[in-house]
Amino acid sequence: MTSNSEEPKPRPRGSVTFDNSGRVVIVTGGCSGIGRSICDNFARSGATVVCADVDTAAAQHLPRRIEFRPCDTSSKEDCQSVVQWTVEEFGGLDVMVNNAAVQPKESYRPIHELSADVWNRVLGVNLSGYTFMAMSALCHMRQQRSGVVVNIASGQGHRTARQVGTYGPIKAANIMQARQWAVEYARDGIRVVSVSPGAIDTPLVRASLAEQGGSAALANRHPVGRIGQPEEVASAVLWISGPDASFVTGTDLEVDGGLGALGSFADPYPMPTVVSS
Ligand SMILES: NC(=O)c1ccc[n+]([C@@H]2O[C@H](COP(=O)([O-])OP(=O)(O)OC[C@H]3O[C@@H](n4cnc5c(N)ncnc54)[C@H](O)[C@@H]3O)[C@@H](O)[C@H]2O)c1
Repeated sequence: MTSNSEEPKPRPRGSVTFDNSGRVVIVTGGCSGIGRSICDNFARSGATVVCADVDTAAAQHLPRRIEFRPCDTSSKEDCQSVVQWTVEEFGGLDVMVNNAAVQPKESYRPIHELSADVWNRVLGVNLSGYTFMAMSALCHMRQQRSGVVVNIASGQGHRTARQVGTYGPIKAANIMQARQWAVEYARDGIRVVSVSPGAIDTPLVRASLAEQGGSAALANRHPVGRIGQPEEVASAVLWISGPDASFVTGTDLEVDGGLGALGSFADPYPMPTVVSS
């Protein structure tokens, strides 16, 4: 028996091990944040991983077990060339993770103040980029009669806030792309899903903390009381792209610490008091 003042003894947490030996995976935007974690998790579980990213400087820091191909996903030719290189080099393509996205500071505006250049830049990477990669990947997956496409979307694709008139609607389109492609290619043995993270500790979120009310307020908005870690999204991607999720397609998985469950009419959680030493 424990007295009320004592912390309860931690219970076993269980664990899941993934085996992706022999599978070939492309991850766009794999040099940083969530994409990097997805690359690491797939590589650790035995997959051949190709990271397609514009950031050739950051690519120098990728571990050797992750292949790098320079690629601007807003270019259809770049996307085509990464998929073709991967299939020729490794003999197939099993998982395509559309993850590369941008959210420039200039996009945090109501749309009447938005420049067409900013809109077109976000649209090019965050929406056309997903389609361009999928176009090429799905051609090969149809021939194989197998494959999984995962679109990394966002909680902001489900519900919105002020100032995200560019990023939010385009993230909603990533969810709908996944549904449409799932329906289109289900009889070809291909599954397509989306994963929608809440706020995750990555450079993209760190760069916009001021616009999101600061780190403490952002953490407190999530029912679990913290923002997520990239590994927590990567684990969801590994599960959903694996055989245990064989009946899961055309749907979205929110990985968000409960953020999406909390109504805007709910009392906000009290801000935790900071104890200064
Ligand atoms: N971090 C979050 O809180 C959060 C929340 C919800 C959704 N997301 C989504 O998760 C995904 C990853 O976000 P992140 O926070 O890890 O971002 P990040 O900024 O840390 O990393 C993005 C990566 O994409 C690459 N990239 C940018 N433009 C590219 C292009 N044109 N072609 C190829 N690569 C390009 C960058 O070089 C970088 O390596 C995005 O789709 C984002 O919308 C993130």
